[in-house]
Amino acid sequence: MMNRVTIVGAGLVGETTAQILAEAELCRELVLIDIREDAPQGVALDVMQTSSFFHFDTRVTGSNEPSAMAGSDLIIVTAGVPRKPGMSRSDVLDVNLKVIDGIIDNALEYAPDAMILMVTNPVDVLTYRAWQRSGWPRHRVFGQAGVLDASRMASFIAMETGFSSLDITTIVLGGHGDTMVPLPRFCTINGIPVRQFIDEDKLQAIIERTRNGGAEILSLRKTSSAYDAPAAAVATMVDAIANNRRRILPTVALLDGEYSEKDLAMGVPCVLSEQGVESIVELELNDEEWTSFRVSAQSVRQDIDRIE
Ligand code: 2OP
Repeated sequence: MMNRVTIVGAGLVGETTAQILAEAELCRELVLIDIREDAPQGVALDVMQTSSFFHFDTRVTGSNEPSAMAGSDLIIVTAGVPRKPGMSRSDVLDVNLKVIDGIIDNALEYAPDAMILMVTNPVDVLTYRAWQRSGWPRHRVFGQAGVLDASRMASFIAMETGFSSLDITTIVLGGHGDTMVPLPRFCTINGIPVRQFIDEDKLQAIIERTRNGGAEILSLRKTSSAYDAPAAAVATMVDAIANNRRRILPTVALLDGEYSEKDLAMGVPCVLSEQGVESIVELELNDEEWTSFRVSAQSVRQDIDRIE
């Protein structure tokens, strides 16, 4: 269990994440910070009032003051503007860049020993920015994308085959955008390659649907992006860190030579432990997978170049 976790941004992703972290008692104190007056206090009270149903003693509080993050072990950043229908994740970059810069400055002042888990989009670029601006070692600055994308792919496989999601392992690398790299060769149903159960056309359709997973939900919900699965994905990463599980999870990590990339943040399999990103796992990709990975890296790099 961690001592203190802060979630910056008490919107739908922040709130749902708070509820799951509290229910799982992944920390003793959970702080929600938001610039909207009264909003984080209201969300915190609402979550706190579920404690007798879910039997947790995590103390949930809300604040408009950045100083409330003081002493945090982990800062989860969900603040920023979400996409509207028709917008790409990169469209929101300019607005969210300023938001993230402010949060990193606060973290430097009030929680200089924390880890940062970036959720705000475009998550690859903003994870890079958080690392660059904080100057912290790369194991303490990382982002959530691939856990969500992989869980989307797993549910599409479960829907197609009728098999239990519990047995489905999927992996999605690359940037969290249209160029993400689902890896069907590494997808199994209880160790059995997925291609034994799904023909190629259907598998390609699942890959495409995974790439558009966020946009599909946005176009259906209309007034909000996805938040249930994103929050569960964040909580999965927090659980791996808080319990020092050393799980291998796709994580937006700073690359320093891994996958032949440097000075770039994007989704790769990482060992998550109490240190944060303990190490990066390099997969042996085939030619086609490498090509997709490069295209994705190029697209993230273009956004990073825009902010520099
Ligand atoms: C998603 O994929 C909004 O990026 C978020 O749902």
